Amino acid sequence: MSLISKLKGLHNDNSISMHVPGHKNNTIGELSDVIKADYDLTEIPGLDDLHDPVEILSELNTMLAQKAPGYHAQAMVNGTTNGIICSIHAIKERVSHFYIAGDAHKSVYHGVSLINSDYTVIRPEELYELDLDDSCVILTSPSYTGELIKDIEKHVEYIRKNNGLSIIDAAHGAHLSITNNFEASLLKSGADVVIESYHKMLPALTMASVLFTGDSALHQRIMHYINQFETSSPSYLVLASIEYAQQFYNEYDDKEFFQKRGQLIHHLKAAGIDTKEQDDPAKLILNSSEGPYNLEQSLRDSGVYSEMVTDEGVLWCLPLWHEGDRYPFTALLERITKLTPAAFNEGTVMNTDILEGEICVENIVPYPPGVPLVLKGNVITADVIKRIKHYQVNHVKIEGIQYNIYYYMNEAEL
Ligand SMILES: Cc1ncc(COP(=O)(O)O)c(C=O)c1O
Repeated sequence: MSLISKLKGLHNDNSISMHVPGHKNNTIGELSDVIKADYDLTEIPGLDDLHDPVEILSELNTMLAQKAPGYHAQAMVNGTTNGIICSIHAIKERVSHFYIAGDAHKSVYHGVSLINSDYTVIRPEELYELDLDDSCVILTSPSYTGELIKDIEKHVEYIRKNNGLSIIDAAHGAHLSITNNFEASLLKSGADVVIESYHKMLPALTMASVLFTGDSALHQRIMHYINQFETSSPSYLVLASIEYAQQFYNEYDDKEFFQKRGQLIHHLKAAGIDTKEQDDPAKLILNSSEGPYNLEQSLRDSGVYSEMVTDEGVLWCLPLWHEGDRYPFTALLERITKLTPAAFNEGTVMNTDILEGEICVENIVPYPPGVPLVLKGNVITADVIKRIKHYQVNHVKIEGIQYNIYYYMNEAEL
């Protein structure tokens, strides 16, 4: 089947999105007003240069920067991944060590590995025991599941007072502070760099992200690397979607969101599905007596697509409902009522026993969420092998596993 047929099939089956991107199959916001093939232009006169913006894209960045007084903003078309990798390159010119606090996305590890930098993985609370001079601390907040690092402003202040620099990967937090009923945006933390994926929770096209930098000189150095790593043919559709998402953010009224969220939680409960609320009100973790993997399958069988499933539960990214949205809320409630348990269908388990006790030669990463389970250079223990098997039985994709198996199989043959 071709990709286009697959996409059309999903669309025609009226699938319901509880995953990213935030426009939820174009039912939240009015993206279609600005996303038209006719507008897919290039950097012709009048449309500026994304890597040296002085005209219309500079105006866009100025408008984005109003979200966070004191920060410079740069719209990006290659995701937060691009912002993280470029920021790490720029900051490496000023520091000699990186601390990675908490569960970081693979792009953070790719960034430090590309520059061959030393790094240490720590818990955020451990910051206070460290000499942070000549270091950069990379924090991830909110997490994929919508949990925030507590007292992050205090952490950032401590880092600064101790002559360190801070990056916050806020990929999942572009919608925070959208109203006073949402937790505070990470832009209020005062970190040196904050990067947000607009596409994840706001109505923007996939890959739409914004980099925010406090210091002008650092911003210029990050731009130097953005110029090198980001495509020189930026999509004006993605850029227009960033502008649209920012307008949506500026004008948002949360009345519909909280009313529907309450109704949904109540409805799930009545159908025997427990909901765990997260710091971010737009994230929910579901569980039922079926177990999370079967629950996710039952939902999918009924055409409701979730963001992720782990042992913790099924993760839903809630739509930012608003007056006049086209999200199929009634159909969602009906499908929940009619949900039937899925038959357990065991995934294929690769023979990974050969890896036990070996040094990992390529990061092993369950995807999603993209947080490494074993980092290159560490030992692959029996416990890790057990976890990999458990993931595979439950159809969780594991990146890097095939690479490690090939490496050690070939070595064994030599
Ligand atoms: C915590 C975290 N950081 C960064 C990223 C990368 O963001 P993007 O998809 O915008 O490149 C992700 C993607 O899922 C993520 O979960």
